Amino acid sequence: IQNVPLFQEYTREELEAIAPLFKERKYSRGSILFLEGDTGEEFFLIRSGSVKIYRIDDTKEIILALFREGDYFGEMSMMQRGLTRSATAETLENSVIYTMTRTDFFRFMEKSPRLCLKLLEVTMERLRKANEQIYDLTFLGVKSRVAKVMLRLADEHGVPSPHGTIIPIKLTHQQIANMVGAVRESVTKVLQELQDEDTIRIENKMILILKPNRLRDNFTH
Ligand code: CMP
Repeated sequence: IQNVPLFQEYTREELEAIAPLFKERKYSRGSILFLEGDTGEEFFLIRSGSVKIYRIDDTKEIILALFREGDYFGEMSMMQRGLTRSATAETLENSVIYTMTRTDFFRFMEKSPRLCLKLLEVTMERLRKANEQIYDLTFLGVKSRVAKVMLRLADEHGVPSPHGTIIPIKLTHQQIANMVGAVRESVTKVLQELQDEDTIRIENKMILILKPNRLRDNFTH
């Protein structure tokens, strides 16, 4: 856990105190960690793999966030006692997840103002992104929304490669559509356009961003 951003500034002793409080669980791809509406008693931290956070209607799905190694989730209902899980969490690949109970987590927060500040900082960042999503859904067209989501994923998870930045999560067109609130057909069309103009390439279901500036040209801010 010393590589987890949340515990970045922890000393060795502090890490040794917190590490045994985590339980390790292995999940295969497509496992539901919890459902929207469940009671939430635990905090989740991803050791390896990836998780999508989403809400569903009868037939439609909106992906609120994608998390990878080092990211955490499940803190909302854990902190807000009496409220249930605000969304569903499902693994996108085989994943190893650490969990911690509310009691242990609270005990640790009470001892560590730095942990609280870090949690607050991440919460602010997530709120900022949620505002951005509201803006995008209200004001932007599908191509701009796809362009923006790619830049956001590159910023959050991107890995540099000789030709550009790779987003190291395998995504289907449907999943991208579910991230931008569009139908799959429109997203397929936009992805084709972006590939035809050499802005992106899709390799092994992963997006390689060749020209981030051309993605940025699709929106003003
Ligand atoms: P919780 O409500 O316990 O369960 C669902 C989790 O998804 C939630 O805690 C957060 O960790 C995470 N989550 C919900 N909405 C968002 C969002 N808009 N951005 C990032 N993470 C979210």
